[in-house]
Amino acid sequence: MAHSLLILPGDGIGPEVMAEVRKVIDWFGTKGHAFDVSEDLVGGAAYDAHGTPLHDDTMAKAQEVDAVLLGAVGGPKYDVLDFSVKPERGLLRLRKEMDLFANLRPAQCFDALADFSSLKREVVAGLDIVIVRELTSGIYFGEPRGIITENNERVGINTQRYTESEIERVARSAFELAMKRNRKLCSMEKANVMESGILWREVVTEVGKDYPEVALSHMYADAGAMQLCRWPKQFDVIVTDNLFGDLLSDAAAMLTGSLGMLPSASLGAPMANGRPKALYEPVHGSAPDIAGQGKANPIACILSFAMALRYSFDLGDEATRVEKAVETVLADGLRTADLLGEEGKSPVSTSEMGDAIVAALAAA
Ligand code: IPM
Ligand code: MG
Repeated sequence: MAHSLLILPGDGIGPEVMAEVRKVIDWFGTKGHAFDVSEDLVGGAAYDAHGTPLHDDTMAKAQEVDAVLLGAVGGPKYDVLDFSVKPERGLLRLRKEMDLFANLRPAQCFDALADFSSLKREVVAGLDIVIVRELTSGIYFGEPRGIITENNERVGINTQRYTESEIERVARSAFELAMKRNRKLCSMEKANVMESGILWREVVTEVGKDYPEVALSHMYADAGAMQLCRWPKQFDVIVTDNLFGDLLSDAAAMLTGSLGMLPSASLGAPMANGRPKALYEPVHGSAPDIAGQGKANPIACILSFAMALRYSFDLGDEATRVEKAVETVLADGLRTADLLGEEGKSPVSTSEMGDAIVAALAAA
């Protein structure tokens, strides 16, 4: 049976980078790996069509497929909308209702791009870390929340809240990943100022007893941010909460040279087929300033599809092929505009990059 994949291109550069992923998917189709692909709207695009950033039918479809691949959501056009229908709410609903609690954000520095990082080559060359971000709880979803009036002034409220079981399941995902990698896990919170951080540290330590081979360490998240910039190669897997993970993963992404390179996988509990419920998306946003101009880098989205091949479709070798093809085109000197910096070369367009990656796949 063909693997089912729901594609949600979304807003801004989402549709144009997704068009390049389609080329990769079609190429695999000619090699005996057919995917049953359907496409739908999310974010501002869904709001424009239906008045909601995620239609119930789309939500239902997302629950049924083997994997969801999302482009990006948001844009200045939607800034005026009420909070409850902002494009981001569509993405957050998908994460929450699919219960995608473990968000894997790899930050890998491709050798061809090591000089492009804002940090020195020796600090980032060979960097290969993964941030496991808790994705369905914490301050993003905690109650009470809102803007209330108290003593004649407005008060903005959000609540950081974690149950033991929420911490335990994401910790377990991180330990499992660490077991498949270098058996090193660093947990980050702020146990020095937050009770939720104290509990986080206790539960992670407890789960760690089931993984005696994994060297577990703990760091306050602010110190972690500093260490990520100072010497990121000290880390292998990092596990942290929803908000700290949001911040730390953007910082980690920039170490590698460009946000346009990094994929992510958001994984939930196993489905009937034994594979986790999953949504894949680039770490970058909708980049409205360059949308529709052929300037976007499709690599993050293509690598997100590679993660889908590995985690949802059990096609690890095919995932590696895609990653190798990306490495090849970068080593050949191909650069989209985001990767040019001082190099003084002329950029290739989004679709030229996609074509080159497919050509590299075919040549391998
Ligand atoms: C991310 C983004 C999202 C988040 C936004 C778009 C809701 O920044 O995936 O990192 O804050 O989680
Ligand atoms: Mg973010």
